[in-house]
Amino acid sequence: MATVLVAYASRHGATHEIAEWIAGALERDGLTVLLRHADEVGDLEGIDAVVIGGPIYVGRVLIPIPSFFCRHRTALGTMPVALFLSGTLIAAGNPRQDERGYAIAESVRQGIPIVALALFGGRFSWARVSIIGRFVPATAPKDTRDRPAIEAWAKTLPARFGL
Ligand SMILES: Cc1cc2nc3c(=O)[nH]c(=O)nc-3n(C[C@H](O)[C@H](O)[C@H](O)COP(=O)(O)O)c2cc1C
Repeated sequence: MATVLVAYASRHGATHEIAEWIAGALERDGLTVLLRHADEVGDLEGIDAVVIGGPIYVGRVLIPIPSFFCRHRTALGTMPVALFLSGTLIAAGNPRQDERGYAIAESVRQGIPIVALALFGGRFSWARVSIIGRFVPATAPKDTRDRPAIEAWAKTLPARFGL
């Protein structure tokens, strides 16, 4: 049975959850899935395909993602790779932000071919990033993640991976 690694970076848990949704969808399609923080992946022995993604903070994806591509560049060149980025500014109907997201993806992949690329929404809450947010009731959390769309994307991956 084919094994897919779902690797992620996450500061406040929103992208971790996206990775869990993707892993769940792939498992329901009969694949063996390893869900790991990108920094915890030692080598890609026994892995047939990789899904990797992380959140954007101030116009950059979290460091574990480019660092993963750098560390595993030789192995990644020999297997199908899917990349997703998440953020509350992207996938929100603003073409300039999406353009920025695609440019970030382009720099992150460091020339390694990508068979599927997606921009997903994010979850932002002042209460999660700052103690001030806990005392300001007007700062409602914002969650622009679209779980059905994310799972639908995940369902397209086995075919794109050729698995
Ligand atoms: C300080 C800060 C900067 C951010 N910058 C961006 C950004 O440039 N573009 C974007 O789309 N989202 C941005 N976001 C939103 C995050 O990407 C979003 O909250 C994401 O879901 C967080 O994922 P995590 O919980 O996995 O860390 C920012 C959030 C914070 C707190």
